[in-house]
Amino acid sequence: MRAVLALSSLIYALAAACPLVKRQDLPIEDYENAVAAGSGSVVGPAAGDAASESVSLYDPTVVASEIAAQVTESPAVITANVKRAVVCTTRTYNGPHVSSPADSAEAFQAFQAFTDAAIAAAKASAVPSGYALVPGFVNKKATAQDPSYLTYLSSKLSNYNPAHCATFCNSLNGCTGFNIFNERVPLIVSSTTQVPDKNVCPGLATSPSATLIKCAFYGMPLLVSTATNVGQFQGKFKVVVAGSNAYIRSLAPSLDRYEGPVSFGNASINAPAPVVDHGYLRTQTFGANVPYDPNLCAASCEAQTVYNAAHGTKRGQACVFFNSYILYKNGTNGVFTCAYYSTPYGVAYAKNKGQFDKDGNKFTIGQSYGYYADGSYVP
Ligand SMILES: *[C@@H]1O[C@H](CO)[C@@H](O)[C@H](O)[C@H]1NC(C)=O
Ligand SMILES: *[C@@H]1O[C@H](CO)[C@@H](O)[C@H](O)[C@H]1NC(C)=O
Repeated sequence: MRAVLALSSLIYALAAACPLVKRQDLPIEDYENAVAAGSGSVVGPAAGDAASESVSLYDPTVVASEIAAQVTESPAVITANVKRAVVCTTRTYNGPHVSSPADSAEAFQAFQAFTDAAIAAAKASAVPSGYALVPGFVNKKATAQDPSYLTYLSSKLSNYNPAHCATFCNSLNGCTGFNIFNERVPLIVSSTTQVPDKNVCPGLATSPSATLIKCAFYGMPLLVSTATNVGQFQGKFKVVVAGSNAYIRSLAPSLDRYEGPVSFGNASINAPAPVVDHGYLRTQTFGANVPYDPNLCAASCEAQTVYNAAHGTKRGQACVFFNSYILYKNGTNGVFTCAYYSTPYGVAYAKNKGQFDKDGNKFTIGQSYGYYADGSYVP
């Protein structure tokens, strides 16, 4: 169960309510709302196969139409529940069984073949085309946790191969990267829950293991600081991870009806003050479980144009340009953000590299791109 979408238009309200605001600030007030909106989300794949493998709940068409409808309204939440029935079974697996020098968590994490494969897969020549290695996220003994988690693959993988994960990520809506790893799980599990059953097939310290090779997919670019899930106990059986690498996909797709993307690096647009007189329309932060997807900004920009024209809002100005970026607090917990304009600004205006709030937290920008409605591009 996860909330799919939550967005905040507080800044829009603020900007409308305070015409005296001069400088274009980062949406710091909205940031906490966006993080909170993602806080109930699943942050990574369940150990074993306890959750469905390849179902993505992120549908950009649905989310974009919700966003368009919510240009002035409150957020929507979509939830889904899955229930299944219970029998012990020998689980399927796709990785080598580690039994030497023992079938133990320690032997699993020390298994040389896992280390060798992870290090080989981090070499530039092995990084899938269109992807980059997440700096420092190589051969970790932990998996990523992030509210933008989408889904995972295991049974369809025949070996530890980032290229297979990349191919799947390329076809998965909202996927901006993945984490590939080996997971030590119990061999005998309840067929319904895919974890040991304390009555019928309990998890013991000595229970035989199996290895699952998995890729887990995320909607926001992973940072090495997200490598925090070191495993768990299932009964007394120790689930652990080895050879965990992460990769990030090139984030800025080209969009129909827009020119660009133009990279603004780690800076957002700073429109001239007073911003309300210089084409600034609003800034929108998305719940931390919403993928980085400029399609959502485009849907919102277009809906804003229609709304402004119909209601005379913002002097009826059309949205012709938007800046999509990630807003980080102290370098972590990024939230997807879009700023909208009726005046197109080029890279020379991408000057906001961050700011502090009154408590000393530093807000910074990453993955900043400009998109211009056809015919509006300015260098
Ligand atoms: C943006 O910041 C990241 C993290 O600090 C850094 O690795 C990257 O090189 C920066 N990119 C640009 C274009 O400055
Ligand atoms: C962010 O960093 C500042 C300065 O080091 C610190 O005062 C603040 O407590 C940090 N905030 C969080 C949420 O870690």
